[in-house]
Amino acid sequence: MPMCARAARLSVPSTRQFLCSRACPPSSRRPIINPRFSSSLPTPSSASAPSHSSPAPEQQLPRTIASLLHPGSAANTTTTTTTTTTTSTSTVTTSTTDARSDQPDIGIDVGTGTGTGTGNGIGADSTNVTVHGWIKSVRRMGKVSFASVTDGTTSTPLQAVLAKPQVAGLSTGSSVRISGEWKQSRSGTVQQNELVAADVQLLGGADPATYPLQKKYQTTEYLRTLPHLRPRIPFNAAVLQLRSFMSQTLTSFFAENEFVQCYPPIITSSDCEGAGEVFTVSSNEKGNGHFFRTPKYLTVSSQLHLEALAAALPRVWTLSPTFRAEKSDTSRHLSEFYMLEAELSFIETLDPLLNVTEDMIRRLVSALKTSRIGQDILALSGDMMPELEARWEGLVQPGGWKRLTYLSAIEVLQAAEEQGKVEFQFPARWGESLQSEHEKYLAGRYGPVFVTDYPREIKPFYMLPSHGDARTVACFDLLFPVVGELIGGSLREHRYEELVQNMRSHGLISGDGDAGIEQSGLRWYTDLRKYGSSPHGGFGMGMDRLICYLSGVGNIRDVVAFPRWVGRCDA
Ligand code: 4AD
Ligand code: MG
Repeated sequence: MPMCARAARLSVPSTRQFLCSRACPPSSRRPIINPRFSSSLPTPSSASAPSHSSPAPEQQLPRTIASLLHPGSAANTTTTTTTTTTTSTSTVTTSTTDARSDQPDIGIDVGTGTGTGTGNGIGADSTNVTVHGWIKSVRRMGKVSFASVTDGTTSTPLQAVLAKPQVAGLSTGSSVRISGEWKQSRSGTVQQNELVAADVQLLGGADPATYPLQKKYQTTEYLRTLPHLRPRIPFNAAVLQLRSFMSQTLTSFFAENEFVQCYPPIITSSDCEGAGEVFTVSSNEKGNGHFFRTPKYLTVSSQLHLEALAAALPRVWTLSPTFRAEKSDTSRHLSEFYMLEAELSFIETLDPLLNVTEDMIRRLVSALKTSRIGQDILALSGDMMPELEARWEGLVQPGGWKRLTYLSAIEVLQAAEEQGKVEFQFPARWGESLQSEHEKYLAGRYGPVFVTDYPREIKPFYMLPSHGDARTVACFDLLFPVVGELIGGSLREHRYEELVQNMRSHGLISGDGDAGIEQSGLRWYTDLRKYGSSPHGGFGMGMDRLICYLSGVGNIRDVVAFPRWVGRCDA
């Protein structure tokens, strides 16, 4: 589909046509590399630039194990491929290339050999290399020993062959530097290549008597007591890489669609959602009143500030930490989580919002499927989650995701119960929030499903009434299988009088006149409706919930490195 048709599908007014990364010459995307790290800078201007001599080994970035086991494919890049995703109304064509071909050599320590090859290091025979990592296990076999070494960048550890004296002091968890020859494996069973060590340095020991991550199965509950150590488990390291990949891909998606990434504040003066579930910020200085003169809070959503920024730029987005003091002790709730939020000006219906969110996730999953980190996640989740790949496929199937109104959703839920297909703990009733069991039923039945136009009484003050029905508001929740609500969004009330009226009815403004608005701390927000207001809308996505779904991890506490939830803030 031509780019102009894609812009039309999103129906977002465009300052100019949407840009694809393909439209940018590779040279314009070339990162600037600090010459101190670089042994060669093949930039177009390098011929005239003063030449830098090769940095000494200690000035170079140590090489990763991935660069040895998978030369030519960084974890966060996809191999050259073209992915076409068709939704009911659009075709999104994404062309991605191995980013390494675009990037200068950043002075990775590849030793004296070539360090090149394909697949599992084949072709890199007899190359002198140095690797760093942590010992996963050591097998002592008479004269030689085999050490599995990992640095979290690969799904399988590197195998090093060590002579007896070189093994002294090495145990699970210890950190090492090993130099030697990267040779075709003699046994060929574990790995096609292995590192035959010439020099082994123990950087930091790990007492086998006390190291908590011994080579045996540990429960997720136990691992949660060790948030500082559990990233060393290969799957947890892969989840860290997955998050990084997602952030990078989403950043590209928004850039290509002319969204500007913004950095709204973390300390805020109001509770955006009006639910009162805020953490208050205070200084530890006693007796001088409030640091900011009045109580301030950690943000529960960047939406209101993004609305101000979207009144200056047509499309903005952010990926920010978000804090909620809700005492929800569930597998889907954290007290500190990352929310991806976007705000779009000049839109009059929900469709562009729904289209952007659907395209965003389809684009992300398409890229994940062909990335090395995607393959690593599949390899590592293996037996625990054999259906993971099918789960990804389900998200990029042709045909748009189901869209239905709240009213239709209630009818579907009631009919299902009447027909004995399901028994809910809480019957579905118009005017009440959908329970998690309802959301799961709908997502189980339809796959990802947008539910729109909820009753106004159960939604926040800032939502615009639905077109032609004042009882409901123009909002949506995107429900996903397993994780339930993934995204919430709406059109915003952009008319001054109506907004102030909503704020009064929601108890945010007390009394008549301007004094109440001043007291609410939201004068600035209402001002936006006085000066150049326009129809607009936006959404917020729970990043950690999406990571759960894409990685197959059942509990949100296990995809966040240092999770915080009610009663727990360890490390
Ligand atoms: O539905 P929510 O509350 O929407 C808002 O905050 C809007 N102001 C966003 C906007 O329009 N800019 O939150 C958005 C998403 C939810 O759908 C859910 O995925 C996630 O944030 N979320 C949580 N994730 C983890 N832990 C929690 N306690 C969460 N609360 C919400
Ligand atoms: Mg919500």
